[in-house]
Amino acid sequence: MTSTWLITGTSRGMGREMVEQLLARGDTVIATLRNPDDLAELAERYGSALTTERLDVTDTQTMRQVVARAFAEHDRIDVVASNAGYGVFGTAEDLTDEHVDAMIATNLTASIQLARAVVPHLRRQGGGTLVQMSSMGGHLAFPGFSLYHVTKWGIEGFYEALAQEVEPLGIRTILVEPGVVRTSFFDAAVRVPVSAPYRGGPADRPPMTLEEMTDSQEKTVAAILREADADTPRRRLILGSDAWQLVTGALTDRLSAVTAQRDNAATADFATQ
Ligand SMILES: NC(=O)c1ccc[n+]([C@@H]2O[C@H](COP(=O)([O-])OP(=O)(O)OC[C@H]3O[C@@H](n4cnc5c(N)ncnc54)[C@H](OP(=O)(O)O)[C@@H]3O)[C@@H](O)[C@H]2O)c1
Repeated sequence: MTSTWLITGTSRGMGREMVEQLLARGDTVIATLRNPDDLAELAERYGSALTTERLDVTDTQTMRQVVARAFAEHDRIDVVASNAGYGVFGTAEDLTDEHVDAMIATNLTASIQLARAVVPHLRRQGGGTLVQMSSMGGHLAFPGFSLYHVTKWGIEGFYEALAQEVEPLGIRTILVEPGVVRTSFFDAAVRVPVSAPYRGGPADRPPMTLEEMTDSQEKTVAAILREADADTPRRRLILGSDAWQLVTGALTDRLSAVTAQRDNAATADFATQ
């Protein structure tokens, strides 16, 4: 059975890979992107199976219009994938206010607003699936990447609550948590030079090498499609052995740290003597 997807950030990377894999298997795609020319070749090849819509995800008004038009023009949209995003490398001290605002607007606020725009439509059509690109960086944090982690930890919290709200309405949610995937992400990332006090420290790292990008774009996207097709998808989808290892390590450490505080936590109870 074919399905219809709406995806953000489809010019390149995993968003574009989703578009290509879906079209190749006969699905219908509404691909949103900042410059629709980037998908001109695919639009010509696939005709009415592909609709492209110009959308910078930080423009909430336009996003709402694009979403409303897409649901009006298609009988049903089965899956909405919130994919657009980028990275900023720099110490918290070295970042500018503009870095902070732009990162949160693109990776966090836009993802929240997309979900809020889409849920009423999914509810009215009797259900559907929200796929949200998170990251292993939604569970753990690397120095020099604090802003990115803000957005992924933030969207994890939003979806943790949203999933419980919308599942009774037939809406399924999937937080995708890849490791380091070979996409254009690291080339496109903003790099803020480390200032003198941080040189040689944990945040002063060379750019990611190809060897460190251990996850395949094609296989990561294939796994996302498989999960969205499943009758009961996982709320969180860890992809890549790097992600599995680092996330299990981080969660184990956090669980140990919390477990060890049982007696101290109880000192704040009303009933403490
Ligand atoms: N690559 C990884 O290792 C990795 C790991 C975990 C999670 N992720 C997440 O996966 C998602 C996709 O990343 P990727 O690796 O495929 O990165 P990518 O190759 O750099 O592609 C990013 C896409 O997002 C779009 N985008 C950025 N800002 C946008 C905006 N304001 N409005 C609309 N589109 C915008 C870009 O469009 P333009 O061409 O217009 O810039 C591009 O199509 C992101 O949410 C990222 O955080 C990536």
